[in-house]
Amino acid sequence: MRKALIAGNWKMHKTVAEAVELVEALLRDMPDAPDREVVICPPFTALSPLHALLANTPLLLGAQDVFYETQGAYTSAIAPQMLTELGCSYVIVGHSERRAVFGDTDAIINRKLHAALQAGLRPILCVGETKTQRDAGKAEQIVVGQVQAGLADVGGAQMAEVVIAYEPVWAIGTGDTATSADAQAMHATVRATLDDLFGGAVAETVRIQYGGSVKPDNVDELMAQPDIDGALVGGAALKAESFLRIIGYRA
Ligand code: 13P
Repeated sequence: MRKALIAGNWKMHKTVAEAVELVEALLRDMPDAPDREVVICPPFTALSPLHALLANTPLLLGAQDVFYETQGAYTSAIAPQMLTELGCSYVIVGHSERRAVFGDTDAIINRKLHAALQAGLRPILCVGETKTQRDAGKAEQIVVGQVQAGLADVGGAQMAEVVIAYEPVWAIGTGDTATSADAQAMHATVRATLDDLFGGAVAETVRIQYGGSVKPDNVDELMAQPDIDGALVGGAALKAESFLRIIGYRA
């Protein structure tokens, strides 16, 4: 049985003061959620204050990116150990905004994923096709290729720590979510790819999140799909009320 994982990717939103305010609101009303994991991924600047605030709470901390070296002359970069020191248990790698805006390639993403695993962080590997690629009938090919490249040289045993997030680029921040049937179909394709790479026993245990305009009014239907094991939430994670409703999905 896969434990659902709901993660909030705050992107470049919230000052420290705003982050603390949001987390206090979440903690006030968060249900005891033993059957689902909940992670927030704030900007790097808010990790340290939130680490203190989240001690002994059911809310886990994650980061939005990581560099693959452990230290050195890499101006602006954040090393995996810097994240574990601040209580991060998850880190997003390969988000489409990192790919499109910052030039992260599959090879770079694969190095980041390995570095995360090495440091004891659980990577959330994001994959997803653009609208142009989908319209050209290439969505599956693109997603399968990103999964294969992102997971290059990862061992089956390490997959216990890895989460995949399918985020169709055209559904991110647009309000234009994939239908639950389309999302389920791609999740099944991702799981089949994991089966090819690691075998059925591993493929059945890896959690695959859906991301892209997940909202209170579509989360229940998405989470009811057999291969959707969680959500990676952007905009709707920035307000306590909507994120709490998403955490409390009823599938
Ligand atoms: P939205 O939920 O705002 O569409 O963002 C999704 C996303 O990119 C999460 O990583």
